[in-house]
Amino acid sequence: MQPRPGTRLLLLLVLPLAALSDTRGSEELEPMGPPRDPVVVIVGAGISGIVAAEKLHRRGFLNIKVLEATGRTGGRIRTQSFAKGLVEIGAQWIHGPSPANPVFQLASQFSLLGPDALLEENQKMNIEGHPSSIPVVYSSSGKKISPEVVTNITALYYTWLNKAQNLTDCDPVASVGSFIRQQVVQSSQEWDQDMVEINMALLRGLLNVECCVSGTHSMNYVGLCPYGEYTMLPGLDCTFPRGYESLVNHIKAPLPDGTVVLNKAVKSIDWNGSFHGGNSHVYPVKVQCEDGDSFVADHVIVTVPLGFLKKRSLDFLSPPLPPGKIQAIKNLGFGTNNKILLEFEKPFWDPNTTLIQTVWEGDSPLTEPKKDLKQNWMRKLCIFVVLEPPEQLGHVLCGFIAGEESEFMETLTDEEILSSMTDFFRTFTGNPELPPPISILRSQWHSQPYTGGSYSYVAVGSSGSDVDNLAEPLPTHEEALKPLQVLFAGEATERNFYSTTHGALISGRREAQRLIDRYPKLGAAANKAKL
Ligand SMILES: Cc1cc2nc3c(=O)[nH]c(=O)nc-3n(C[C@H](O)[C@H](O)[C@H](O)COP(=O)(O)OP(=O)(O)OC[C@H]3O[C@@H](n4cnc5c(N)ncnc54)[C@H](O)[C@@H]3O)c2cc1C
Ligand SMILES: *[C@@H]1O[C@H](CO)[C@@H](O)[C@H](O)[C@H]1NC(C)=O
Ligand SMILES: *[C@@H]1O[C@H](CO)[C@@H](O)[C@H](O)[C@H]1NC(C)=O
Ligand SMILES: *[C@@H]1O[C@H](CO)[C@@H](O)[C@H](O)[C@H]1NC(C)=O
Ligand SMILES: *[C@@H]1O[C@H](CO)[C@@H](O)[C@H](O)[C@H]1NC(C)=O
Repeated sequence: MQPRPGTRLLLLLVLPLAALSDTRGSEELEPMGPPRDPVVVIVGAGISGIVAAEKLHRRGFLNIKVLEATGRTGGRIRTQSFAKGLVEIGAQWIHGPSPANPVFQLASQFSLLGPDALLEENQKMNIEGHPSSIPVVYSSSGKKISPEVVTNITALYYTWLNKAQNLTDCDPVASVGSFIRQQVVQSSQEWDQDMVEINMALLRGLLNVECCVSGTHSMNYVGLCPYGEYTMLPGLDCTFPRGYESLVNHIKAPLPDGTVVLNKAVKSIDWNGSFHGGNSHVYPVKVQCEDGDSFVADHVIVTVPLGFLKKRSLDFLSPPLPPGKIQAIKNLGFGTNNKILLEFEKPFWDPNTTLIQTVWEGDSPLTEPKKDLKQNWMRKLCIFVVLEPPEQLGHVLCGFIAGEESEFMETLTDEEILSSMTDFFRTFTGNPELPPPISILRSQWHSQPYTGGSYSYVAVGSSGSDVDNLAEPLPTHEEALKPLQVLFAGEATERNFYSTTHGALISGRREAQRLIDRYPKLGAAANKAKL
């Protein structure tokens, strides 16, 4: 992306003088070394890191580097070619596309959305996390389940889930899974005997879908008490016709060339020190890279996924993270949700089908899935979205699978998965001749060394204050008068919107603002430059 030359020239002309006078003014915040422009290093070029860089740049910060381990920006926002068009490997929807959602705001501003998403009635629709349409449900005996049965049990299930979200008084060791089981046991006493088996199978399917939504192996891992802190925004979820990555590309466009450095994995962050730059200045932080490069800085914003922090919580920082923060990293959950994209020559589903659910007869929400992953991993596959528009993309199903089964799937070859999926759909359609899919693409988020899974959730034993703790900058507030050194952003640091792109975006803006507040005159200078 090209930077906008006009704005950049203006900033270059106006800022140096203004910025110089600013650092003199805030000398008490910069006890180490002579006055100078603050140097900010951002670790990770996902949406949180890119948004933080763009905001700091816009507000007059001149020395910003974004170090990204992989060869691309976007992180868990990743669009790729497949079939005859584009598909999403990571984030797919704007959850709650309405004016309060900053991803929706930016996407509309950049004209990245289709006409339906911009309709006011779409933005007002409150689906409270339910799927927006009732799926067509196939059972493992090769039959479709009557829509009436599906509608009834689905409605019941979402009442329970809403109840779980509404609970204020709850047992700290209870899980969402245990709560739902209780409701099932109570409710099933009123079911007709001949409905029990099918209802139970449907409910197991719905729990498997919930595992995908929460990015967890089992809803027994998700804490009941903190579950309700996740906030749902109104709006009927929408997608990006030209790919989710178009959003990241628009946000990063104004950044000067060379701001983002790709293939630059950070190995560790030394802080609370006195490090010499290539000049006479001394800096409190030094970022060490895997390839031997290092970057000194006044401030570092760490946006690496919680999955990476979990692996490196003890040694990513030196001095190490304070014990409370290490505990918060341990307490919070980070699991796997993957996609399996399948292209079919001809659809086996009706033209107006948007969602396909698959349920295994004999399964139940009261028992956990079978352990032998090689034999049973496909049983965790539960929901397939029919991707639109077929005229442009081809006939593509996007299946979702979470947990250990999903992590096992990552170890299989495309051919092995394709062959399993052919058997799978022959079983569910009851058509032993059903042609195999013509192509396949699946995500492998757990195996990505710099991600380690899909997104965070509030595990049993965790609470919203763990999320807040993760977001606290260093030095900690006991030493609050010291300059900020290491700040934390990313999806997992946003108490009400974790696991989403808007949560990640809000967190990036939050940490940029934390720095902007420390350099009031820099911000004022940037505002002057804009006028
Ligand atoms: C399969 C899937 C489906 C999803 N669906 C949706 C959806 O429909 N809607 C929605 O709102 N959200 C969805 N999400 C979640 C959303 O994608 C994330 O919450 C969001 O993109 C996270 O942004 P981030 O900036 O916090 O992290 P990331 O995008 O992960 O960015 C962090 C970056 O840090 C880099 N990094 C890590 N370690 C280092 C290191 N040591 N040195 C340098 N760089 C490093 C990583 O490579 C990465 O690029 C989905 C996620 C997945 C995986
Ligand atoms: C679905 O629920 C309605 C209303 O509660 C009920 O009248 C109907 O019999 C139910 N249908 C089935 C198939 O369970
Ligand atoms: C949950 O709370 C919301 C808002 O207070 C309310 O509208 C909804 O009916 C409640 N749902 C249940 C199942 O209690
Ligand atoms: C930071 O350095 C100061 C002075 O050397 C020391 O007193 C303090 O304990 C250090 N803080 C941490 C977190 O290591
Ligand atoms: C799909 O369309 C057919 C024919 O137009 C109709 O009979 C059927 O009810 C529709 N199904 C759904 C799920 O809307």
